[in-house]
Amino acid sequence: MAKIIAGIGTSHVPAIGAAVDQGLTHEPYWKSLFAGYGPARDWLARLKPDVAIIIYNDHCVALSPASIPTFAIGVGDQFIAADEGWGPRPVPVVRGDSQLSWHLAESLVLDEFDLTIMNQLEVDHGLTVPLSIACGQPAEWPFKVVPIEVNVVLFPQPTGRRCFALGRAIRKAVEAYPEDLRVVVFGTGGMSHQIHGERAGLINRAWDTAFLDDLTANPQRLVAMSHVDYMREAGAEGIEMIMWLVMRGALNDDVKEIYRHYHVPASNTAAGLIILENR
Ligand code: DHB
Ligand code: FE
Repeated sequence: MAKIIAGIGTSHVPAIGAAVDQGLTHEPYWKSLFAGYGPARDWLARLKPDVAIIIYNDHCVALSPASIPTFAIGVGDQFIAADEGWGPRPVPVVRGDSQLSWHLAESLVLDEFDLTIMNQLEVDHGLTVPLSIACGQPAEWPFKVVPIEVNVVLFPQPTGRRCFALGRAIRKAVEAYPEDLRVVVFGTGGMSHQIHGERAGLINRAWDTAFLDDLTANPQRLVAMSHVDYMREAGAEGIEMIMWLVMRGALNDDVKEIYRHYHVPASNTAAGLIILENR
C-alpha cells in the first residue's frame, strides 16, 4: 500500500529559482539562505520518496484569471515549466504519476472535494522553485510529482480548515492505493509577505515563528485562523500559508519536526522551510 511518510513546507519565491538558474547561490545575498537548504536536501536524498504530492498555487501564469478553480489536480504524465515572462525556467520536465493522480481525483471527488481535472498543466514557480530548493539542479527530478493546486490568488479563497480537511482526504486516498509507494507532501508558499501596495515588504518574524511552532504541535490553532488574520499579520500574500495546512492535514496527528530554516530577506519575502515526519 502507498503511505505518506513526511511533509515539507517551503516558500516558493521566484527569485530563489532565478538564483539557482543563474548560479548566484554563493553570492553574499543568497549564501546563508541556501546554506540552510543543505540539510533539507540531504534529508530528502536519504529518504528517496517515490512520489511527491505538491500543493501549490499558479500565479495567473498557466491559468487565466478568467477562470481559477478552487482546487485542481494535474493528471498528466508530465508538466513543463511555464513561461513567466523571462522564458521557462531551465529545469527538468516534471514527471507525473497519471495513475496515482486519477486515483486521487476519484477518491477526492467521492469525498466531496470537487477538484478540477487538469489534463494539461504547465507549472510556474509555485511548483518548480520548491523542487529546486529540495533537490538542487539534478538532470532529472528524483521522484514523480502529483500537482494539486489551491486558489490563493482570487477572492474568495478556501478556508484553512477546508485545506486541512483536503489533506486528510489526500491521506485517505493515498492509503487506499495498492502500489507500495512512499509519498511526501509539499505545502508551498509564504511565509509572511506582501509584494504590492502600501505594506509591500511586510515581514512578521514573530507570526512566522509561531506558525512554524504550531504547525507541528497545535495545527488546530492555525486551522481556525481567518483570512483577515493572515492579511493583517502576514500580508496580502501570507494567505499562501493555507497550502501548508493541506500538507499538515495529510500527516498524522503526531508528527516530529525534523528540521527548520527561516531566512529574511528573499526578494520581499520571509523564506521558511520545515520538515515534518510522521511518528
Ligand atoms: C514573490 C512571489 C511569490 O509568488 C511568492 O510566493 C513570494 C514572493 C515575489 O515576486 O517576490
Ligand atoms: Fe507565491
